[in-house]
Amino acid sequence: MAHINTNIRIKEKDLSSKFILYLTTISFVVTYIRTYPELIIQRNCKNTHQLKDHNAELLERILSNRREDEKMFTFLRPLSKGGSKATKLLIASNNAKFSTFGALQKGHANSNPHYHNIITESHGKVGLITLNRPKALNALSSDLFHEVNDALVKYDDDSNIGAIVITGSERAFAAGADIKEMSDQTFAQVYKSDFLGHWGKINDIKKPTIAAVNGFALGGGCELAMCCDIIYAGEKALFGQPEIKLGVIPGAGGTQRLVRAIGKSKAMEIVLSGRNFSAQEAERWGLVSKILPSDKVLDEAIKLGQDIANLSQPAIQAAKESINAAFELSLKEGCHFERRLFQSLFSLNDQKEGMSAFVEKREPKWTND
Ligand code: CAA
Repeated sequence: MAHINTNIRIKEKDLSSKFILYLTTISFVVTYIRTYPELIIQRNCKNTHQLKDHNAELLERILSNRREDEKMFTFLRPLSKGGSKATKLLIASNNAKFSTFGALQKGHANSNPHYHNIITESHGKVGLITLNRPKALNALSSDLFHEVNDALVKYDDDSNIGAIVITGSERAFAAGADIKEMSDQTFAQVYKSDFLGHWGKINDIKKPTIAAVNGFALGGGCELAMCCDIIYAGEKALFGQPEIKLGVIPGAGGTQRLVRAIGKSKAMEIVLSGRNFSAQEAERWGLVSKILPSDKVLDEAIKLGQDIANLSQPAIQAAKESINAAFELSLKEGCHFERRLFQSLFSLNDQKEGMSAFVEKREPKWTND
């Protein structure tokens, strides 16, 4: 009897292995079919500029396909536990294919399957949020913004993450609030629902946020970038508050943050005329902290995030809080607030460690407490 049971078990195992082999083969064929036309297009691209544009599009497509792939491999992985050595090897190679996506973005794919408008992934201690509505130039729909808020709060609560980068695509960081979603709304609707009210969540995030901007950062896109603590921009990035051309004004802090960042005269010119301004102007006026070649913006933003995340987290949080207080307080109140925060940091082990390490001429080991 035991012998028969063993036979049945072996047959069941064989069947499950064949099933997994079948699924994995299909996955390889699908991947090949998806990739083959890309190889042809890449060969036909006449110059590097064309190839770069194409690669940006390809990357966008890969990022959207990733969610589907993730679902499939999440399904396959548990099956691999009971499978044969060959099946395990095949599944391992699919996982490796997955890591290739990771290598492409140099990150660890961990996007929440419930997100449909953004992709999240961690790069060491940096949480990356990629806005992902390519067809609408990353227009910031309510659904998208709820996902951004959710991801921001998750990264803020994650003790393994020390900084957050928000980015879009090469063509658009974000072309503003979703005009199609707004166009038919009545005053009663937007007022009662406090439309755009939830955009303020990013201001409660304690960890440093960095915007890596390429392409259009218009209207709400410019406002989202300005909500971040630091902006890195690609050399072709284009900023603007064109709401006046839609018969409205900026509604997510544009008039307030722009005037603080670039002064009254320039803010008036930009908002009243609706003219866009270049990354170079933005950097000259102090809105953007650095301009980089388009293909380096994200890498450099992540690198900066990593540098920040490797420091003492409570000190970083205090520094961010103190700088932001400058927008709310008088100089005297602000300096008082800063001094009190500075004094309070002497209760941290990290203060003892940081200063001892300097005196002992060694690298500090932060414990974040
Ligand atoms: N909302 C909804 N859809 C948008 C969008 C937006 N803000 N911006 C672009 N799109 C859509 C377009 O409708 C188009 O979709 P279809 O293919 O379905 O027609 C697609 O994205 C591509 O856009 P274009 O064909 O217009 O691309 P382009 O290269 O010719 O122009 C652009 C690019 C200059 C950014 C132009 O799309 C544009 O002017 N967009 C609107 C910018 C704007 O006014 N932003 C402010 C919005 S209001 C706001 O943000 C209020 C606030 O304070 C929060």
